[in-house]
Amino acid sequence: MSEHPLQATPPTTSYEADPSQVDRVLLLYSGGLDTSVMLKWIQDSYEAEVVCLTVNLGQPGEDYSVIEEKAKALGAVECHVVDARERFAEDFLVPAIRANAVYGNGYPLFTALGRPLIAQLAVEYARKSNCDTIAHGCTGKGNDQVRIEATVATLAPELRTIAPVRSWQMGRDEEIAYAREHGIPVKGGTEAAPYSIDDNLWGRSSEGRWIEDLGQAPEDDVFQLVTRPELAPDEAQVLTVGFEAGRPVSLDGERLGLVDLLERAAEIGCRHGVGIVDHIEDRIVGLKVRDIYEVPAAAIILTAHEELERLVGTIHQNQFKPALDQKWGYLVYGGLWWEPLRTDLDAYMAAVNARVSGEIGIRLYKGSVRVVTRSSPNAVYDASLASFAESGGLFSQQASPGFIEIWSLQSRMAHRLREEQGE
Ligand code: ARG
Repeated sequence: MSEHPLQATPPTTSYEADPSQVDRVLLLYSGGLDTSVMLKWIQDSYEAEVVCLTVNLGQPGEDYSVIEEKAKALGAVECHVVDARERFAEDFLVPAIRANAVYGNGYPLFTALGRPLIAQLAVEYARKSNCDTIAHGCTGKGNDQVRIEATVATLAPELRTIAPVRSWQMGRDEEIAYAREHGIPVKGGTEAAPYSIDDNLWGRSSEGRWIEDLGQAPEDDVFQLVTRPELAPDEAQVLTVGFEAGRPVSLDGERLGLVDLLERAAEIGCRHGVGIVDHIEDRIVGLKVRDIYEVPAAAIILTAHEELERLVGTIHQNQFKPALDQKWGYLVYGGLWWEPLRTDLDAYMAAVNARVSGEIGIRLYKGSVRVVTRSSPNAVYDASLASFAESGGLFSQQASPGFIEIWSLQSRMAHRLREEQGE
């Protein structure tokens, strides 16, 4: 054991590791301060070997070779960097698009969708590398610990987990001191703490600093991805998004692979300043927290998808599905990706989305996203029926009064009754 005051702690649940039984740990390693300190700390406090896993879900601007070198330099016995962008897009983002998945007031769940895949990969690599324990850098106040540990406990009951940030009681200053003491490179350690960032193909979140002050309007330096709307081009751009069975397949008529398409949509959205969300969020663990989200790809793709879905759906389908969408989003937000209800809902989403094919034109202009054109072979729309100018056709206007009489029957009776009773 290290002479450092920070000790490994005994478990409180069945899936947490007992320090005496930890020999080889799979660490979910980002290369940041927390997980770098952790990489050393686990070797010292648990006298265990550490295997590092870094997952590429399309974090913009990340250099994975630097992360790998750092892990090796800090004593990792193995380092794995996995490009999981395709799997993330296919298995997680396509279902999310079909479910119009957002939580609260516009959070498209990019972090919540990424965590079950990261944890699933952790299980796969832990088994391959003969690890007994999975370690992650989540705090005890957030949703991510729930998502990761629920996944590990579901998929691999034989594995144990440890979450050092929950137990080591180091603040940022102590972590920096620990890092210095153990030869862990720290960039800009003396400055104010940076924003806490999480990002992938589907968006980016910032937390901490002034964001925690609800009275404080966003400071410009938080927007590292999306152009500030006031600096976006003066010319609007109309982007046409094509879908097949609820899955985005083209931009402006050009067919693209899913990952390319999402990256391209994000780039265009960034240029026009779209997808900024200033969000107060009800976390699973009871806290309300503010997040600043930059979600340029989701702002475009979800807006287009929802529009097309409503065009091909009947009034009854369109009234029903949002309730299921919301349930889907909440299960995923809550870390229950592996809950069978989510798969059941996916079957319904797939059934509805079988007809969601066509094109939606989206106008992007200084932060706004607006649907301007729609077309689909499956649209439940007949221009001549709907026409204001055309009087006849299949729609019999003479039949309307009879419809109105019967449609309003109960409401009229109830209204009269209340009048007679002097209400
Ligand atoms: N509030 C969002 C969520 O719970 C984003 C969390 C970002 N995670 C992070 N480790 N910074 O899904």
